[in-house]
This record gives sequence, structure tokens and C-alpha cells, in this order.
Amino acid sequence: MTRSSVDNLPLSGQRILLGVTGGIAAYKSPELVRRLREAGADVRVVVTDGGSRFITPMTLQAVSGYPVRSDLWDATAEAAMGHIELARWADRVLVAPASADIMARMAAGMASDLLTTLILATEAEVILAPAMNRVMWASPVVAENRKRLEARGMKFIGPGSGSQACGEVGEGRMAEPGEIVSALATTTTDRPLAGRRVLITAGPTIEDIDPVRYVGNRSSGRMGFALADAAARAGARVVLVAGPVSLDTPPGVERVDVRSARQMHSQVMQHVGDCDAFIGVAAVADYRPVSPSADKIKKEGRPVWNLELERNPDILADVAGLDPRPLVVGFAAETGQVEENARAKLESKGLDMIVANRVGENAGFEVEDNALVVIEPDARHDLGHGTKRMLAGKLIEHLAHRLNQGKDES
Ligand code: C5P
Repeated sequence: MTRSSVDNLPLSGQRILLGVTGGIAAYKSPELVRRLREAGADVRVVVTDGGSRFITPMTLQAVSGYPVRSDLWDATAEAAMGHIELARWADRVLVAPASADIMARMAAGMASDLLTTLILATEAEVILAPAMNRVMWASPVVAENRKRLEARGMKFIGPGSGSQACGEVGEGRMAEPGEIVSALATTTTDRPLAGRRVLITAGPTIEDIDPVRYVGNRSSGRMGFALADAAARAGARVVLVAGPVSLDTPPGVERVDVRSARQMHSQVMQHVGDCDAFIGVAAVADYRPVSPSADKIKKEGRPVWNLELERNPDILADVAGLDPRPLVVGFAAETGQVEENARAKLESKGLDMIVANRVGENAGFEVEDNALVVIEPDARHDLGHGTKRMLAGKLIEHLAHRLNQGKDES
């Protein structure tokens, strides 16, 4: 069973870091935590000094099921999960209620307490649900801060209009917990891989014969890099294990560089644990020299050279053999009988999906274009011919559909 098929809630598997700041709306935070958890999210809470004047960390700990953090300098909490680790842990950071003060500090790029430090240290999406008095919300400086935060890609939910705790009526009420959860679920649909983790291999592997010679292949890494970029754009956390290629890392992608098939195997096994999908795009060398030499091998006195090679581990088949395992996608670069060969590989390696890739005819290795057909145990989708970037987008869309199937049907 693949890990992805067991979850069917709107925020399944999402790691949400909730920042509670100083505002009377903090009394709704326990309800918000409860609803986020009911929607499938894993929630950790950080409270600012101001937030803890309105709601006790103990209440939030009880509803979230985890200790609540508030102090950047708490050595015991740092030993359990350091603030940088917490910033990396989060798929999304939700600041609710977001006070005028936190908006100003975020806009200024301050790291003056645990929450602002985490926000600066995270690569996750940041969403604010503001709550404040209507005059404060209407003030030009708050509007300016909002614009600055939006320009940096942060999202706002609310505020709504109505009667306020201060007795006034107007805009500034925090959106209701149910509305916040629905808004998060809707933006998950816009970014169909939000909260998902995808591991991709790309490029060739290089197997050293001696310090100057190696066994390699013509893979440029472009298809794998285009897929990593498309997956990150769709909201996934992407780890890209890359063989030696001269390509820039796509924005937001964590890249691990390797050289040989055995190094690639070891990095994949280290990162695959919490992944929803594994896409093996790398052209992994099937063989490596049995006895690589530390010194340059001389040609003198060697009219014929028999180089002895041994099989490398099959990374894709090993990932497919894990239990539980992610959704496993392979690539099959073929020159003839493309689909037949790809289907045979799908079955022999026990994959969920294989992407048949015709090499040659202005597609495949070292060129910008490609032609892909997705083959599944009982389906076939022709993605057509086009740039690797365009095809990567289509393939990621298809993958997201497969991963979210449980949700679509619920
Ligand atoms: O068996 P073949 O090399 O044709 O299969 C290609 C697929 O298997 C690709 O997805 C490739 O990344 C993966 N593979 C692997 N480890 C190997 C050989 C291939 O992950 N040693």
C-alpha cells in the first residue's frame, strides 16, 4: 500500500506551525487547533509574549497534543526540537490571530522573538489571519505592512467585518476557525502538492575507473530538474538527488549532489522515509568497475584492456520494495518498442507508474524536447511531445491527481 492512499482529509499530512499573537481573538485558537487537526493537519503551536496574555500555553498544549513553545532562549525546548528544525519541519506557517505588532515586525524583517525568528528561517508558505481594532486595521501603516508582506508572497485570510471585542463595529475581526481551515484547504487545491514531499533523482551517475577515467552516460539532468521545479511550484517540499550536471538548482528545492550510483542509493534511502512520491529520473549507471584504481592506469604494454564491471544497486526497485513506500515512478528511456519495454519494467520493478521516454528523433538525452507516455498497471496517458518544462508540468499534475485521488473521491 502506498503511504498516500490512506489519507483523504483536506489537510492530510500537512505540518502546520500555528503562531498565536496578542489579540483577544486568541480565545478562538484552541478551536482553530482542533479544526486543523480534524482536517488532517499535524499542528505545533508557538505563542508570543502578547499571545500568552490572552490564552495559556497549557490550553494549547492540551488541544495540539504537543508542548507549546514561546521562548527563543528555552534550552530544554531547543534540545528537543531546535527553532531551525521547527522552521524546516513546517509545511505552512499560520499566524492567527496576527496582531498589528507582528505584522510590523514581520514587515521589518525582525527576529526579536521565537515566532519572528521562525518566520525568517522558514521556506514554508506563511499565512496571516489578522485581528485588530477597526481603526488600527484601517491605518495607513498597517495597510503598508500588509502590502509589503503580500509582495513577499505571504497570504492573508480575512479579516472579516462585524462587532468587535472593543465594542466597535467594523473590519478587523479574525476570520472564524472554520473559514480559516476552508481557506487553507482551497489554497491546497491551487497548489496540488502542498504539504507533500517528493524525492527525485536526476542526471547521470559516474563510476570511476581511475583518477582520470570513468564510466558515464549522456544524461543532462534536464528532465529531472524540470520535474523538481514543477513539483516545487505545485507546493511540494522537494529533495533532488543529482548526479554530476551543470544545472542551477530550481528555487525552493533541496539539492544533494552525488557522483556514483552507490552514493545516490545511500542518499535516496536517507531521504525516502517521509516522502509521498519518489521519481527516479536519473540515468543510473548499471555497472561500475570492480577494482577502481587509485593511480592512473597506464596504456603502455596494454594493447587490449578488459575492464571488469559489476552491477550497481537498482535504486528504483529498492524503493519499490520498501513497506510502507511512497508512490513510485520510474522512467524508461528506450529506442525501440518503447511502451512494451516500459510496461515490462513497470511490472518487473513493481512500480506504480512508469514514464516511457523515446530517445532519439529530437527527444530524450541532451536535448530540450521530449516525448512522454505515462504507463500505469491499468492505464495509459500520452503527454505528447514538447519542452521538458512543459511535459514536467503535465506529469506533476498527473502525479498530484494520483496522490490526491483519495481526497477527490471523499
Ligand atoms: O532498468 P532501467 O535502467 O532501464 O530502468 C530505468 C529506471 O530505473 C529509471 O527510473 C532509473 O532512474 C531507475 N534506475 C535506478 N537504479 C538503477 C537503474 C535504473 O533507480 N541502478
